[in-house]
Amino acid sequence: MKKTEHLPFFGIGKVLPYLKNYRKALLGLISGCLVGSLVDTGVPLFQRYALNHFIGEGKLDGIWLFTILYFALIAGGALVNYVACVCSMRIEVGVDKDLRNAAFNHLQTLSFSYFNQNSVGYIHSRVMSDTQRIGGLVSWTLLDSLWQMGYVVGAVVVMLVINTRLALLVMAVIPLAVVLFSLFQSRLVKLNREIREINSQITGNFNEGITGARTIKTLVIEKLIESDFVRDTARMRRQATSAARVRGLFMVTMNFASSLALAVVLWKGGVIAKTQIGTFSMFMSYAQGLMEPIRWVVDAISDLITTQVNIERLTRLLETEPDVKDSDEVTRIYGDSFEAKKENWEPLRGDIEFEDVSFQYPDGDEKILEHFDLKIPFGTNVAIVGETGAGKSTLANLICRFYEPTEGRVLIDGRDARERSQLWLHSAIGYVLQTPHLFSGTVRENLLYGNPDATEEEIDHALELVSAKDVVARLEKGLDTDVGEGGDMLSTGEKQLLSFARAILAKPRILVLDEATASVDTITEQKIQAAIDTIIRGRTSIVIAHRLSTVRNADVILVVRDGKIIERGKHRELMEARGHYYRLYTRQYEDEATASLLG
Ligand SMILES: Nc1ncnc2c1ncn2[C@@H]1O[C@H](COP(=O)(O)OP(=O)(O)OP(=O)(O)O)[C@@H](O)[C@H]1O
Ligand SMILES: [Mg+2]
Repeated sequence: MKKTEHLPFFGIGKVLPYLKNYRKALLGLISGCLVGSLVDTGVPLFQRYALNHFIGEGKLDGIWLFTILYFALIAGGALVNYVACVCSMRIEVGVDKDLRNAAFNHLQTLSFSYFNQNSVGYIHSRVMSDTQRIGGLVSWTLLDSLWQMGYVVGAVVVMLVINTRLALLVMAVIPLAVVLFSLFQSRLVKLNREIREINSQITGNFNEGITGARTIKTLVIEKLIESDFVRDTARMRRQATSAARVRGLFMVTMNFASSLALAVVLWKGGVIAKTQIGTFSMFMSYAQGLMEPIRWVVDAISDLITTQVNIERLTRLLETEPDVKDSDEVTRIYGDSFEAKKENWEPLRGDIEFEDVSFQYPDGDEKILEHFDLKIPFGTNVAIVGETGAGKSTLANLICRFYEPTEGRVLIDGRDARERSQLWLHSAIGYVLQTPHLFSGTVRENLLYGNPDATEEEIDHALELVSAKDVVARLEKGLDTDVGEGGDMLSTGEKQLLSFARAILAKPRILVLDEATASVDTITEQKIQAAIDTIIRGRTSIVIAHRLSTVRNADVILVVRDGKIIERGKHRELMEARGHYYRLYTRQYEDEATASLLG
């Protein structure tokens, strides 16, 4: 994986391209900040004039013009402030949106292995919170730091021009303040990071406490889980209190630095400013008002540094190359997931062949398949059986090109699968999984994911084929019933039936059923079995099954063990051979007979 950690703290360079779409807003923000800081710098100058002229000299001539100008300055300042804020908001929301879209689209192209290696929580915070922090950095942090920096520079220049000696004295406090603020800031950043870590631990435990509530109860580990939780929240309290203490000290120090600058003016100001009351007051304003902006700038810099982590993590996601990727040449001809060039797609027949395939999962440490050969001519109904972990699902994954062979080739219609696009292949495959997944939305919407153009009759027919009509009829609003997030308002068996119907609607040339009937009762299973026998006609089908009674009719049964086919043949042949299959079958048969006798 590409590491960007060594990037100096200007990993921000990676984000700059995302500002391209917001040139106007950026210009508005920058000019708004500059004008705004000029206005802020100007206010003490006006006060100086008023004090010197109207009060010091006691003349009132031009007070109207002065009032109008002063009012114009204040009003202009407010307007500029508004413009800069609107621009900043536009950039924040826009960049956040663009980064999120980029991350989400990129996630769609990534392979299975990425999702195996990274947890949902991890990916979620990349897409949601990292993008948000980066958006905030290039808008509000930019605004604050430009504005405040403008003010500091403006104030320093004005002071230098009006009274260099006094200005230098006031400025002597600045480096001291910067050092002090940075010390506090780094301490605060560290504490905040720890707090965030503890917080995510607490959230994680909390989630597990909820999702695993039933398991926790049955294992009787409530006490253990609770004591972990209490320990973490206590740690959280300690760290939060420390942070509050440091923050309090920080405020005190800041006030102290302000007062110090003020003291300098009071001490020397009277003499140096030659008792001109206006100038004296102006210096007081600047001296007092300087510390807050400096704090902001220090704040902004530390924000820039801490956000590096977010930038680094997000760009790592955006730069992750999918393990399975169509070559440029293939994409040029066949298009990609977002823009398929279906006019160039040749029809898929459905011949599958493994040619000397060896395979190891990207994060696995041993080869699952070694020099594996298998020919599945179009129209064959293949059953794959074998013990848990034998490599059955792995074969299905390779057929679907969710993974690619480490060595050797998987051929589809006689050509290496890599010569055509993933979408071309996936459009012709119906895949029903052991763990069925539905999307939130209605039953109908879910079925239409299989084929957006399906008619009511086709939907009805598909439901009929998989015996799911009863299931739908039982639902309150029939096809228009909401299935909830991940389809969780339905039972696993019901989800399985519906995902089966969805696969059929796509009229796939190749049908892959991985334990597709594992979660339905025996009666439904028999119904589905009959359906399978009908729908596999005219298709290549790969049926993975634990219950061997369901694959008796297959054209060929492959018995897989440790990634190798140890037996192959029809049910009768395998039974007569009295090998591994025979033993598996009789054992299951006996188990089932015992179970049915017992109850
Ligand atoms: N994503 C993965 N990364 C690394 N190793 C994996 C991965 N998926 C499976 N394996 C390993 O590959 C081997 C074969 O797994 P596979 O899922 O193909 O078994 P299976 O025959 O389908 O088992 P089951 O009947 O339990 O579904 C197992 O040893 C498993 O540990
Ligand atoms: Mg499996």
